Amino acid sequence: MEIIRTSAEMTAWANRVIAAGETIGLVPTMGFFHEGHLRLMRKVGEKANRTVVSLFVNPIQFGVDEDLCRYPRDFPRDCQLAEAEGVDVIFAPEPQEMYLPEAHTRVIVSGLTDGLCGKSRPGHFAGVTTVVAKLFHIIKPHCAVFGRKDFQQLAVIERMVADLNFEVEIIGHPIVRETDGLAMSSRNTYLSAPERQAALCLFRAIGHARRRVRDGLVEAQVLLGEVEGVLHSEGVTIEYASLVDQATLQPQAVLRKGVVLAMAIKVGATRLIDNDNLFEEN
Ligand code: PAF
Repeated sequence: MEIIRTSAEMTAWANRVIAAGETIGLVPTMGFFHEGHLRLMRKVGEKANRTVVSLFVNPIQFGVDEDLCRYPRDFPRDCQLAEAEGVDVIFAPEPQEMYLPEAHTRVIVSGLTDGLCGKSRPGHFAGVTTVVAKLFHIIKPHCAVFGRKDFQQLAVIERMVADLNFEVEIIGHPIVRETDGLAMSSRNTYLSAPERQAALCLFRAIGHARRRVRDGLVEAQVLLGEVEGVLHSEGVTIEYASLVDQATLQPQAVLRKGVVLAMAIKVGATRLIDNDNLFEEN
């Protein structure tokens, strides 16, 4: 496995691979790999001849009071795990390689980024779409895989790819959960044992919502009240619990196919998100 640090070398590698008639699959990450990341690597390995994993804790997608400085990092361990998955290249640039001091361009998807996480994290999605657009230009992937836990992020990236005519197939990967249901996330390492227990309310809320939908409940407002009850029972802070359309991300009054339960909570100082497409088979 190669470790590449500069955009010029990364693009030269991509050009050679493409000239040889091979395809490139990309897994964009911020590192500190868990089983969820490894599944994304396996998925992209099935779709393309060569796999590139980008590992870059992207400063411009963090707010000033967010966890950029303490975001968990373990580069040697990440490299070992990626190599064991048969990854061809880790692209791990430094921030100054990705953002020149004179850089002033942002890629902004409007509308889809206004609600849900966009509300409490202004500028976050502009940071994500800017870095993903740059990664697509540098690495030239044929396909790229993103986890569905970041459900809004996936919708925003799909929009960007369609609007800006990127020739990249975007693949959404199902949420990977721990055996007790907690969605895997690098940020789970921040949780103390009692906080981790409390965080399970997200999965319990999803189970509750699925049961209510199966029993024929149609009023979104009623379900939201119940979901908030489940979350509050663990004393967590609810940032949002919303029932939105999977494509438009607009809040829905009626529960029907295509409605997603999306939630963000704070457990202690740790912000966690989770979601579920309530009418889809698990
Ligand atoms: O989901 C993430 O880890 C990040 O938002 C991404 C897509 C790698 C962009 O920095």
